[in-house]
Amino acid sequence: MANPMVIAMDGPAGAGKSTVCKEVARRLNILFLDTGAMYRAATLGLVRDGIDLDNAEAVANDVRARRIDFAADGQVRLDGEELGERIRTPEITAEIYRVANNNDCRAYLVALQQNIVRGHDAALEGRDTTTVICPFAPLKVYLDASAEERARRRLTQWQGQGEAPPIEQIIADIKQRDERDTNRDVGGLRVTEDAMYIDTDSISSDEVIDMIVAEALKRCDHLRDHQ
Ligand code: C5P
Repeated sequence: MANPMVIAMDGPAGAGKSTVCKEVARRLNILFLDTGAMYRAATLGLVRDGIDLDNAEAVANDVRARRIDFAADGQVRLDGEELGERIRTPEITAEIYRVANNNDCRAYLVALQQNIVRGHDAALEGRDTTTVICPFAPLKVYLDASAEERARRRLTQWQGQGEAPPIEQIIADIKQRDERDTNRDVGGLRVTEDAMYIDTDSISSDEVIDMIVAEALKRCDHLRDHQ
């Protein structure tokens, strides 16, 4: 095969990376990798095991002993168990930083992620895909949106899931997550110079998807053969 086409997508929480990346992968018929799902799965494992979350060494030991991969239907698995939506509860989201800010955990997960995409045409999304996991990706995308717009989107998704918190609370949570995702010394969120920067505040996800698919096809002839 010609050099694999890797599309790496970064951006803050709630900028729409997941929806956009999944659809780009589907349209181009290439592998999709949700790196955040692996951080979530590792966190669920820690909580279930009752690990002392303040003990960085115990956290790293627990995470590194885990087999984290994906089933054929795209669900993340922890030691073979499909986790489904259990990885997306607010309780798990609140504790992810224990894994994400732990450099030993990051090194382990990054190695797993690099193995998954090696030799494949792939679209992957997460906070360090363009900087650490695939710094040589032929197409890098940074999807951005203001905290206020991301909070509005989250509120729309909330419907039917019990009472939503006030929008000010959602904005504050998003800003706190941005702060943690930006300021960690390893794998911190950052826009690389060669990334295609897309501010999604005033454009639809369909438009964003079209832009990225067009750019990928322009840069990589063999992707047309997959379609
Ligand atoms: O993308 P998602 O919201 O599921 O990611 C959850 C959290 O996992 C992020 O807020 C971030 O702290 C962490 N993460 C990371 N590096 C990645 C993907 C996710 O640190 N590549």
